[in-house]
Amino acid sequence: FLLELIFLPLFVSSHPKALKDSLDPSSLPPNFLFGTASSSYQFEGAYLSDGKGLSNWDIFTHTSGKIIDGSNGDIAVDQYHRFLEDIDLMETLGVNSYRFSISWARILPKGRFGDINRAGISYYNKLINALLLKGIQPFVTLTHYDMPQELEERYGGWLSPKCQEDFGYYVDICFKYFGDRVNYWVTFNEPNLQVINGYRTGESPPSRCSSPFGNCTHGDSEKETFLAAHNIILAHANAVHIYRTKYQKQQGGSIGIVIHCPWFEPYSNSTADNLATDRAQDFLMNWFLDPIIFGKYPAEMTKILGSAIPKFSSNDREKLNKGLDFIGINHYTGFYIQDCSFVVCKPGQGGSRTEGLAQQVQEKDGVPIGKSSEVDWIHVYPQGMEKIITYLKERYNNTPMIITENGFGQESYLNRTIEEYLQDRDRVEYMSGYLDSLMTAMLKGADVRGYFAWSLLDNFEWGRGYTRRFGLHHVDYTTLKRIPRLSATWFKEFIARYKVDK
Ligand code: NOJ
Repeated sequence: FLLELIFLPLFVSSHPKALKDSLDPSSLPPNFLFGTASSSYQFEGAYLSDGKGLSNWDIFTHTSGKIIDGSNGDIAVDQYHRFLEDIDLMETLGVNSYRFSISWARILPKGRFGDINRAGISYYNKLINALLLKGIQPFVTLTHYDMPQELEERYGGWLSPKCQEDFGYYVDICFKYFGDRVNYWVTFNEPNLQVINGYRTGESPPSRCSSPFGNCTHGDSEKETFLAAHNIILAHANAVHIYRTKYQKQQGGSIGIVIHCPWFEPYSNSTADNLATDRAQDFLMNWFLDPIIFGKYPAEMTKILGSAIPKFSSNDREKLNKGLDFIGINHYTGFYIQDCSFVVCKPGQGGSRTEGLAQQVQEKDGVPIGKSSEVDWIHVYPQGMEKIITYLKERYNNTPMIITENGFGQESYLNRTIEEYLQDRDRVEYMSGYLDSLMTAMLKGADVRGYFAWSLLDNFEWGRGYTRRFGLHHVDYTTLKRIPRLSATWFKEFIARYKVDK
Protein backbone atom coordinates (compact mmCIF):
# COMPACT_ATOMS: atom_id res chain seq x y z
CA PHE A 1 0.00 0.00 0.00
CA LEU A 2 3.01 2.25 0.37
CA LEU A 3 3.31 2.45 -3.38
CA GLU A 4 -0.32 3.38 -3.61
CA LEU A 5 0.28 6.17 -1.13
CA ILE A 6 3.26 7.51 -2.99
CA PHE A 7 1.32 7.61 -6.22
CA LEU A 8 -1.83 9.06 -4.74
CA PRO A 9 -2.78 11.62 -7.34
CA LEU A 10 -2.62 15.24 -6.34
CA PHE A 11 -5.93 16.52 -5.10
CA VAL A 12 -6.45 19.42 -7.40
CA SER A 13 -5.74 17.80 -10.71
CA SER A 14 -7.18 14.34 -10.26
CA HIS A 15 -10.92 14.79 -10.05
CA PRO A 16 -13.23 15.02 -12.97
CA LYS A 17 -15.44 18.04 -12.46
CA ALA A 18 -18.88 16.54 -12.48
CA LEU A 19 -20.82 13.37 -12.36
CA LYS A 20 -21.06 12.00 -15.87
CA ASP A 21 -24.47 10.85 -16.87
CA SER A 22 -26.97 9.70 -14.27
CA LEU A 23 -28.01 9.59 -10.65
CA ASP A 24 -26.47 6.16 -10.39
CA PRO A 25 -23.64 6.18 -7.81
CA SER A 26 -21.45 4.18 -10.21
CA SER A 27 -21.12 7.31 -12.32
CA LEU A 28 -19.49 9.25 -9.48
CA PRO A 29 -15.84 10.08 -10.18
CA PRO A 30 -13.24 7.44 -9.20
CA ASN A 31 -11.60 9.37 -6.39
CA PHE A 32 -14.83 10.42 -4.75
CA LEU A 33 -14.49 10.22 -0.97
CA PHE A 34 -17.06 8.20 0.92
CA GLY A 35 -16.73 8.20 4.65
CA THR A 36 -18.20 8.80 8.06
CA ALA A 37 -17.37 11.79 10.23
CA SER A 38 -16.65 12.16 13.95
CA SER A 39 -14.87 14.42 16.42
CA SER A 40 -12.49 13.79 19.29
CA TYR A 41 -14.65 15.08 22.14
CA GLN A 42 -17.76 13.28 20.93
CA PHE A 43 -15.98 9.95 20.36
CA GLU A 44 -12.69 9.43 22.11
CA GLY A 45 -13.40 9.48 25.83
CA ALA A 46 -10.14 8.87 27.76
CA TYR A 47 -10.43 12.48 28.78
CA LEU A 48 -7.47 12.45 31.15
CA SER A 49 -5.60 9.39 29.92
CA ASP A 50 -1.97 9.33 28.89
CA GLY A 51 -1.20 12.93 29.65
CA LYS A 52 -4.09 14.66 27.88
CA GLY A 53 -4.79 18.16 29.23
CA LEU A 54 -8.21 19.61 30.00
CA SER A 55 -10.07 21.17 27.14
CA ASN A 56 -12.71 23.89 27.36
CA TRP A 57 -15.35 21.21 26.68
CA ASP A 58 -14.12 19.11 29.63
CA ILE A 59 -14.63 22.11 31.88
CA PHE A 60 -17.97 23.06 30.37
CA THR A 61 -19.57 19.60 30.60
CA HIS A 62 -18.39 19.28 34.19
CA THR A 63 -20.23 22.47 35.12
CA SER A 64 -23.67 21.68 36.40
CA GLY A 65 -26.66 22.57 34.26
CA LYS A 66 -24.83 22.87 30.95
CA ILE A 67 -25.72 19.52 29.38
CA ILE A 68 -29.34 18.49 29.15
CA ASP A 69 -28.89 15.00 30.61
CA GLY A 70 -26.01 15.97 32.91
CA SER A 71 -23.61 13.82 30.89
CA ASN A 72 -20.15 14.50 29.48
CA GLY A 73 -17.57 13.08 27.07
CA ASP A 74 -15.31 11.51 29.70
CA ILE A 75 -15.93 8.11 28.16
CA ALA A 76 -18.08 9.00 25.15
CA VAL A 77 -17.92 5.95 22.87
CA ASP A 78 -14.38 5.17 24.01
CA GLN A 79 -12.91 5.30 20.53
CA TYR A 80 -9.51 5.97 22.11
CA HIS A 81 -9.46 2.33 23.17
CA ARG A 82 -11.71 0.87 20.49
CA PHE A 83 -10.46 2.44 17.28
CA LEU A 84 -9.43 -0.89 15.78
CA GLU A 85 -12.94 -2.23 16.23
CA ASP A 86 -14.35 0.96 14.71
CA ILE A 87 -12.02 0.72 11.74
CA ASP A 88 -13.31 -2.81 11.19
CA LEU A 89 -16.83 -1.37 11.04
CA MET A 90 -15.63 1.16 8.46
CA GLU A 91 -14.02 -1.59 6.44
CA THR A 92 -17.31 -3.47 6.41
CA LEU A 93 -19.08 -0.34 5.17
CA GLY A 94 -16.54 -0.09 2.38
CA VAL A 95 -15.74 3.59 2.98
CA ASN A 96 -12.48 4.97 1.63
CA SER A 97 -12.06 7.81 4.13
CA TYR A 98 -12.61 8.63 7.80
CA ARG A 99 -13.10 12.17 9.06
CA PHE A 100 -11.98 12.58 12.66
CA SER A 101 -10.56 15.43 14.70
CA ILE A 102 -7.38 15.71 16.71
CA SER A 103 -7.82 16.83 20.29
CA TRP A 104 -5.58 19.88 20.65
CA ALA A 105 -5.30 19.26 24.41
CA ARG A 106 -4.16 15.68 23.80
CA ILE A 107 -1.24 16.95 21.71
CA LEU A 108 -0.54 20.10 23.74
CA PRO A 109 -2.07 19.72 27.21
CA LYS A 110 -1.24 23.35 28.04
CA GLY A 111 -1.37 24.81 24.59
CA ARG A 112 1.87 26.45 23.65
CA PHE A 113 2.82 26.78 27.33
CA GLY A 114 4.06 23.25 27.88
CA ASP A 115 5.49 20.17 26.25
CA ILE A 116 4.18 18.04 23.45
CA ASN A 117 2.39 14.99 24.82
CA ARG A 118 4.17 12.10 23.10
CA ALA A 119 1.38 9.67 24.00
CA GLY A 120 -1.04 11.90 22.09
CA ILE A 121 1.18 11.83 19.01
CA SER A 122 1.45 8.10 19.32
CA TYR A 123 -2.34 7.63 19.56
CA TYR A 124 -3.02 9.52 16.35
CA ASN A 125 -0.13 7.78 14.60
CA LYS A 126 -1.65 4.44 15.49
CA LEU A 127 -5.09 5.56 14.33
CA ILE A 128 -3.77 6.93 11.03
CA ASN A 129 -1.64 3.88 10.30
CA ALA A 130 -4.46 1.48 11.10
CA LEU A 131 -6.77 3.37 8.75
CA LEU A 132 -4.24 3.35 5.94
CA LEU A 133 -3.64 -0.36 6.34
CA LYS A 134 -7.31 -0.86 5.46
CA GLY A 135 -7.12 1.57 2.53
CA ILE A 136 -9.04 4.30 4.42
CA GLN A 137 -7.79 7.87 3.96
CA PRO A 138 -7.54 9.96 7.13
CA PHE A 139 -9.46 13.24 6.72
CA VAL A 140 -8.31 15.29 9.67
CA THR A 141 -10.01 18.19 11.42
CA LEU A 142 -7.50 20.14 13.49
CA THR A 143 -10.06 21.48 15.90
CA HIS A 144 -13.69 20.52 16.23
CA TYR A 145 -14.99 23.14 18.72
CA ASP A 146 -12.41 22.30 21.44
CA MET A 147 -9.22 23.98 22.66
CA PRO A 148 -6.93 23.55 25.69
CA GLN A 149 -8.57 25.17 28.71
CA GLU A 150 -5.22 26.80 29.48
CA LEU A 151 -5.77 29.19 26.55
CA GLU A 152 -9.24 30.14 27.73
CA GLU A 153 -7.84 30.90 31.17
CA ARG A 154 -4.75 32.77 30.10
CA TYR A 155 -6.40 35.19 27.72
CA GLY A 156 -9.99 34.33 26.95
CA GLY A 157 -9.38 31.90 24.11
CA TRP A 158 -10.56 33.13 20.73
CA LEU A 159 -11.20 36.62 22.05
CA SER A 160 -7.47 37.15 21.97
CA PRO A 161 -5.42 37.54 18.79
CA LYS A 162 -2.70 35.56 20.59
CA CYS A 163 -4.68 32.42 19.81
CA GLN A 164 -3.85 32.80 16.14
CA GLU A 165 -0.25 31.99 16.95
CA ASP A 166 -1.20 29.30 19.42
CA PHE A 167 -3.17 27.61 16.69
CA GLY A 168 -0.28 28.00 14.26
CA TYR A 169 2.09 26.41 16.76
CA TYR A 170 -0.30 23.48 17.22
CA VAL A 171 -1.07 22.84 13.54
CA ASP A 172 2.60 22.95 12.64
CA ILE A 173 3.12 20.04 15.03
CA CYS A 174 0.26 18.12 13.40
CA PHE A 175 1.56 18.72 9.87
CA LYS A 176 5.05 17.73 10.95
CA TYR A 177 4.12 14.49 12.70
CA PHE A 178 1.17 13.29 10.62
CA GLY A 179 1.31 15.16 7.31
CA ASP A 180 3.35 12.50 5.51
CA ARG A 181 0.22 10.31 5.63
CA VAL A 182 -2.63 12.83 5.67
CA ASN A 183 -4.00 14.16 2.40
CA TYR A 184 -6.90 16.19 3.74
CA TRP A 185 -6.78 18.81 6.47
CA VAL A 186 -9.57 20.91 7.91
CA THR A 187 -8.57 23.82 10.12
CA PHE A 188 -11.90 24.46 11.90
CA ASN A 189 -15.21 22.69 12.15
CA GLU A 190 -18.23 25.01 11.89
CA PRO A 191 -16.54 28.07 13.38
CA ASN A 192 -19.70 30.01 12.46
CA LEU A 193 -21.79 27.97 14.87
CA GLN A 194 -18.96 27.73 17.39
CA VAL A 195 -18.79 31.49 17.90
CA ILE A 196 -22.56 31.96 17.91
CA ASN A 197 -22.96 29.26 20.55
CA GLY A 198 -19.90 30.28 22.52
CA TYR A 199 -20.36 34.06 22.59
CA ARG A 200 -23.98 34.85 21.70
CA THR A 201 -26.28 32.15 23.05
CA GLY A 202 -23.86 30.73 25.62
CA GLU A 203 -24.75 27.12 24.74
CA SER A 204 -21.09 26.18 24.31
CA PRO A 205 -17.85 27.15 26.01
CA PRO A 206 -16.79 29.74 26.96
CA SER A 207 -20.55 30.19 27.48
CA ARG A 208 -20.84 33.92 27.12
CA CYS A 209 -24.13 35.44 26.06
CA SER A 210 -26.02 38.63 25.45
CA SER A 211 -28.70 38.04 28.06
CA PRO A 212 -27.91 38.12 31.76
CA PHE A 213 -30.55 35.43 32.27
CA GLY A 214 -29.82 31.79 31.82
CA ASN A 215 -26.81 29.73 32.65
CA CYS A 216 -24.13 31.79 30.91
CA THR A 217 -21.87 34.73 31.54
CA HIS A 218 -23.18 38.05 30.35
CA GLY A 219 -20.77 39.73 27.94
CA ASP A 220 -20.73 42.18 25.09
CA SER A 221 -21.96 39.44 22.83
CA GLU A 222 -22.21 41.63 19.78
CA LYS A 223 -18.55 42.58 19.85
CA GLU A 224 -17.26 39.27 21.17
CA THR A 225 -18.92 37.04 18.59
CA PHE A 226 -17.42 39.02 15.72
CA LEU A 227 -14.06 39.36 17.41
CA ALA A 228 -13.78 35.61 18.07
CA ALA A 229 -14.78 34.96 14.45
CA HIS A 230 -12.16 37.44 13.24
CA ASN A 231 -9.41 35.74 15.23
CA ILE A 232 -10.49 32.33 13.96
CA ILE A 233 -10.49 33.51 10.34
CA LEU A 234 -6.96 34.86 10.78
CA ALA A 235 -5.89 31.69 12.60
CA HIS A 236 -7.19 29.72 9.63
CA ALA A 237 -5.19 31.92 7.27
CA ASN A 238 -2.09 31.46 9.40
CA ALA A 239 -2.51 27.67 9.41
CA VAL A 240 -2.96 27.58 5.64
CA HIS A 241 0.10 29.79 5.24
CA ILE A 242 2.18 27.41 7.38
CA TYR A 243 0.92 24.40 5.44
CA ARG A 244 1.51 25.98 2.06
CA THR A 245 4.95 27.34 2.79
CA LYS A 246 6.39 24.46 4.80
CA TYR A 247 4.56 21.25 3.97
CA GLN A 248 2.16 21.18 1.05
CA LYS A 249 4.77 20.75 -1.68
CA GLN A 250 6.40 17.67 -0.17
CA GLN A 251 3.29 16.21 1.36
CA GLY A 252 0.92 16.89 -1.51
CA GLY A 253 -2.27 17.23 0.55
CA SER A 254 -4.96 19.86 0.58
CA ILE A 255 -6.46 22.10 3.25
CA GLY A 256 -9.88 23.62 3.80
CA ILE A 257 -12.42 24.68 6.39
CA VAL A 258 -15.82 23.23 7.32
CA ILE A 259 -18.80 25.56 7.58
CA HIS A 260 -22.29 24.98 8.98
CA CYS A 261 -24.41 25.48 5.85
CA PRO A 262 -28.17 25.03 6.19
CA TRP A 263 -30.29 26.02 3.21
CA PHE A 264 -32.26 29.27 3.56
CA GLU A 265 -35.45 29.65 1.60
CA PRO A 266 -37.23 33.03 1.47
CA TYR A 267 -40.41 32.95 3.58
CA SER A 268 -42.36 34.68 0.83
CA ASN A 269 -41.56 35.92 -2.63
CA SER A 270 -41.49 39.51 -1.43
CA THR A 271 -38.36 41.51 -2.19
CA ALA A 272 -37.89 42.08 1.52
CA ASP A 273 -37.78 38.35 2.31
CA ASN A 274 -35.50 37.68 -0.65
CA LEU A 275 -33.06 40.32 0.49
CA ALA A 276 -33.31 39.05 4.05
CA THR A 277 -32.38 35.58 2.79
CA ASP A 278 -29.24 36.99 1.14
CA ARG A 279 -28.36 38.71 4.39
CA ALA A 280 -28.96 35.54 6.42
CA GLN A 281 -26.51 33.72 4.16
CA ASP A 282 -24.01 36.55 4.58
CA PHE A 283 -24.32 36.54 8.34
CA LEU A 284 -23.90 32.79 8.66
CA MET A 285 -21.74 31.27 5.90
CA ASN A 286 -20.28 34.06 3.80
CA TRP A 287 -19.15 35.71 7.04
CA PHE A 288 -16.30 33.15 7.05
CA LEU A 289 -16.03 32.10 3.41
CA ASP A 290 -15.89 35.58 1.86
CA PRO A 291 -12.85 36.70 3.88
CA ILE A 292 -11.07 33.40 3.28
CA ILE A 293 -11.74 33.41 -0.46
CA PHE A 294 -12.07 37.12 -1.31
CA GLY A 295 -10.21 38.74 1.59
CA LYS A 296 -13.15 40.76 2.94
CA TYR A 297 -16.42 40.46 4.83
CA PRO A 298 -19.66 40.53 2.81
CA ALA A 299 -20.58 44.13 1.98
CA GLU A 300 -23.98 43.94 3.71
CA MET A 301 -22.34 42.83 6.94
CA THR A 302 -19.96 45.75 7.00
CA LYS A 303 -22.79 48.10 6.17
CA ILE A 304 -25.11 46.86 8.92
CA LEU A 305 -22.50 46.28 11.60
CA GLY A 306 -20.20 49.24 11.05
CA SER A 307 -17.57 49.35 13.73
CA ALA A 308 -18.93 46.23 15.46
CA ILE A 309 -17.07 44.10 12.94
CA PRO A 310 -13.25 44.18 13.02
CA LYS A 311 -11.28 45.19 9.95
CA PHE A 312 -8.63 43.30 8.01
CA SER A 313 -5.31 45.02 7.43
CA SER A 314 -3.76 44.85 3.98
CA ASN A 315 -1.35 42.29 5.38
CA ASP A 316 -4.26 40.17 6.56
CA ARG A 317 -5.92 40.43 3.19
CA GLU A 318 -2.83 39.17 1.45
CA LYS A 319 -2.63 36.20 3.77
CA LEU A 320 -6.31 35.46 3.35
CA ASN A 321 -6.47 35.51 -0.41
CA LYS A 322 -7.69 32.12 -1.76
CA GLY A 323 -6.99 30.61 1.60
CA LEU A 324 -8.41 27.16 1.02
CA ASP A 325 -8.29 24.23 -1.40
CA PHE A 326 -11.84 23.06 -0.70
CA ILE A 327 -14.98 24.15 1.10
CA GLY A 328 -16.24 21.63 3.66
CA ILE A 329 -20.03 21.72 3.86
CA ASN A 330 -21.97 20.44 6.85
CA HIS A 331 -25.51 20.30 5.58
CA TYR A 332 -28.50 18.84 7.38
CA THR A 333 -31.58 20.96 6.93
CA GLY A 334 -33.35 24.07 5.66
CA PHE A 335 -35.10 27.09 7.20
CA TYR A 336 -37.36 29.81 5.95
CA ILE A 337 -36.02 33.32 6.30
CA GLN A 338 -38.14 36.32 7.17
CA ASP A 339 -37.19 39.96 6.92
CA CYS A 340 -36.86 41.82 10.22
CA SER A 341 -35.96 45.25 8.92
CA PHE A 342 -39.47 46.19 7.80
CA VAL A 343 -41.42 43.72 9.88
CA VAL A 344 -40.74 43.60 13.60
CA CYS A 345 -39.73 40.05 14.38
CA LYS A 346 -40.78 38.47 17.61
CA PRO A 347 -38.33 39.31 20.38
CA GLY A 348 -36.11 36.43 21.42
CA GLN A 349 -36.49 34.70 18.06
CA GLY A 350 -33.46 36.13 16.34
CA GLY A 351 -33.48 38.63 13.57
CA SER A 352 -31.39 41.20 15.40
CA ARG A 353 -28.83 43.43 13.77
CA THR A 354 -26.12 40.84 14.50
CA GLU A 355 -28.16 38.27 12.61
CA GLY A 356 -28.52 40.51 9.59
CA LEU A 357 -32.08 41.60 10.47
CA ALA A 358 -33.22 38.25 9.19
CA GLN A 359 -34.94 35.56 11.17
CA GLN A 360 -34.91 31.78 10.68
CA VAL A 361 -38.30 30.13 10.96
CA GLN A 362 -39.14 26.51 10.55
CA GLU A 363 -42.74 26.77 9.39
CA LYS A 364 -44.88 28.74 6.99
CA ASP A 365 -48.57 28.87 7.83
CA GLY A 366 -48.05 25.94 10.16
CA VAL A 367 -46.33 23.82 7.48
CA PRO A 368 -42.65 22.99 8.04
CA ILE A 369 -40.15 23.33 5.20
CA GLY A 370 -39.70 19.55 5.15
CA LYS A 371 -40.78 16.52 7.12
CA SER A 372 -40.07 17.00 10.82
CA SER A 373 -37.66 14.65 12.53
CA GLU A 374 -37.09 13.78 16.16
CA VAL A 375 -34.37 16.42 16.33
CA ASP A 376 -36.02 19.82 16.58
CA TRP A 377 -33.73 21.65 14.14
CA ILE A 378 -33.69 18.98 11.44
CA HIS A 379 -36.41 19.05 8.83
CA VAL A 380 -35.99 16.66 5.95
CA TYR A 381 -35.55 18.90 2.94
CA PRO A 382 -33.33 17.02 0.45
CA GLN A 383 -33.67 19.73 -2.23
CA GLY A 384 -31.63 21.92 0.13
CA MET A 385 -28.54 19.86 -0.67
CA GLU A 386 -28.63 20.70 -4.37
CA LYS A 387 -29.55 24.31 -3.60
CA ILE A 388 -26.74 24.95 -1.13
CA ILE A 389 -24.15 23.30 -3.37
CA THR A 390 -25.33 25.36 -6.33
CA TYR A 391 -25.32 28.55 -4.26
CA LEU A 392 -21.73 27.97 -3.13
CA LYS A 393 -20.68 26.87 -6.61
CA GLU A 394 -21.91 30.15 -8.05
CA ARG A 395 -20.66 32.41 -5.31
CA TYR A 396 -17.21 30.85 -5.09
CA ASN A 397 -16.59 29.99 -8.71
CA ASN A 398 -16.96 26.25 -8.29
CA THR A 399 -14.24 25.91 -5.69
CA PRO A 400 -14.01 22.16 -4.90
CA MET A 401 -16.59 21.19 -2.27
CA ILE A 402 -16.80 18.23 0.08
CA ILE A 403 -19.89 17.32 2.07
CA THR A 404 -18.12 16.87 5.38
CA GLU A 405 -21.32 16.04 7.32
CA ASN A 406 -24.89 15.05 6.59
CA GLY A 407 -27.01 12.95 8.87
CA PHE A 408 -30.21 12.18 10.68
CA GLY A 409 -30.81 12.10 14.42
CA GLN A 410 -33.15 9.98 16.50
CA GLU A 411 -34.28 10.87 19.99
CA SER A 412 -33.17 8.49 22.75
CA TYR A 413 -36.61 7.43 23.93
CA LEU A 414 -36.44 5.18 26.93
CA ASN A 415 -39.42 3.16 25.83
CA ARG A 416 -37.95 2.29 22.44
CA THR A 417 -36.36 -1.13 22.00
CA ILE A 418 -32.96 -1.61 20.42
CA GLU A 419 -34.65 -3.46 17.59
CA GLU A 420 -36.73 -0.36 16.89
CA TYR A 421 -33.62 1.81 16.80
CA LEU A 422 -32.00 -0.57 14.37
CA GLN A 423 -34.85 -0.30 11.86
CA ASP A 424 -33.98 3.30 11.00
CA ARG A 425 -35.94 3.59 7.77
CA ASP A 426 -36.23 7.35 8.26
CA ARG A 427 -32.47 7.69 8.20
CA VAL A 428 -32.23 5.61 5.02
CA GLU A 429 -34.89 7.74 3.37
CA TYR A 430 -33.08 10.90 4.51
CA MET A 431 -29.67 9.81 3.23
CA SER A 432 -30.91 8.50 -0.08
CA GLY A 433 -32.85 11.71 -0.72
CA TYR A 434 -29.88 13.92 0.13
CA LEU A 435 -27.45 11.83 -1.91
CA ASP A 436 -29.73 11.99 -4.96
CA SER A 437 -29.90 15.73 -4.53
CA LEU A 438 -26.11 15.90 -4.25
CA MET A 439 -25.72 13.92 -7.46
CA THR A 440 -28.21 16.18 -9.21
CA ALA A 441 -26.02 19.16 -8.32
CA MET A 442 -22.99 17.32 -9.70
CA LEU A 443 -24.82 16.45 -12.90
CA LYS A 444 -25.29 20.18 -13.34
CA GLY A 445 -21.56 20.72 -13.01
CA ALA A 446 -20.84 21.22 -9.31
CA ASP A 447 -17.36 20.11 -8.31
CA VAL A 448 -18.13 17.96 -5.27
CA ARG A 449 -15.46 15.53 -4.17
CA GLY A 450 -16.81 13.61 -1.27
CA TYR A 451 -19.61 12.79 1.13
CA PHE A 452 -19.27 11.98 4.84
CA ALA A 453 -22.18 10.66 6.84
CA TRP A 454 -22.60 11.91 10.38
CA SER A 455 -21.97 9.49 11.93
CA LEU A 456 -20.39 6.05 12.21
CA LEU A 457 -21.77 5.62 15.74
CA ASP A 458 -24.16 7.26 18.15
CA ASN A 459 -22.11 9.67 20.24
CA PHE A 460 -22.07 12.66 22.62
CA GLU A 461 -24.25 15.33 20.98
CA TRP A 462 -22.84 18.39 22.79
CA GLY A 463 -25.48 20.23 24.86
CA ARG A 464 -27.94 17.41 24.11
CA GLY A 465 -25.67 14.83 25.72
CA TYR A 466 -26.62 11.28 24.79
CA THR A 467 -30.26 12.10 24.07
CA ARG A 468 -29.71 12.20 20.31
CA ARG A 469 -28.57 9.26 18.20
CA PHE A 470 -26.92 10.01 14.86
CA GLY A 471 -25.17 6.68 14.23
CA LEU A 472 -25.26 4.25 11.35
CA HIS A 473 -24.46 1.95 14.27
CA HIS A 474 -26.37 1.87 17.51
CA VAL A 475 -24.30 2.21 20.68
CA ASP A 476 -25.50 0.48 23.80
CA TYR A 477 -24.22 2.93 26.40
CA THR A 478 -24.02 0.36 29.18
CA THR A 479 -21.74 -2.03 27.27
CA LEU A 480 -20.51 0.31 24.51
CA LYS A 481 -21.36 -2.41 22.05
CA ARG A 482 -21.83 -1.19 18.47
CA ILE A 483 -24.66 -2.73 16.43
CA PRO A 484 -25.23 -1.94 12.75
CA ARG A 485 -28.51 -0.32 11.84
CA LEU A 486 -30.43 -0.76 8.61
CA SER A 487 -28.81 2.49 7.44
CA ALA A 488 -25.33 0.92 7.77
CA THR A 489 -26.36 -1.88 5.43
CA TRP A 490 -27.97 0.61 3.09
CA PHE A 491 -24.87 2.86 3.00
CA LYS A 492 -22.68 -0.17 2.41
CA GLU A 493 -24.79 -1.15 -0.60
CA PHE A 494 -24.78 2.41 -1.91
CA ILE A 495 -20.98 2.51 -1.75
CA ALA A 496 -20.76 -0.91 -3.40
CA ARG A 497 -22.79 0.47 -6.30
CA TYR A 498 -20.39 3.41 -6.51
CA LYS A 499 -17.46 1.01 -6.79
CA VAL A 500 -18.81 -0.80 -9.84
CA ASP A 501 -16.37 -0.41 -12.75
CA LYS A 502 -13.80 1.49 -10.67
C1 NOJ B 1 -22.38 19.28 13.29
C2 NOJ B 1 -21.23 19.12 14.25
O1 NOJ B 1 -20.03 19.30 13.56
C3 NOJ B 1 -21.23 17.78 14.96
O2 NOJ B 1 -20.28 17.83 15.97
C4 NOJ B 1 -22.63 17.49 15.46
O3 NOJ B 1 -22.67 16.36 16.27
C5 NOJ B 1 -23.55 17.34 14.28
N1 NOJ B 1 -23.59 18.62 13.58
C6 NOJ B 1 -24.99 16.95 14.61
O4 NOJ B 1 -25.59 17.98 15.33
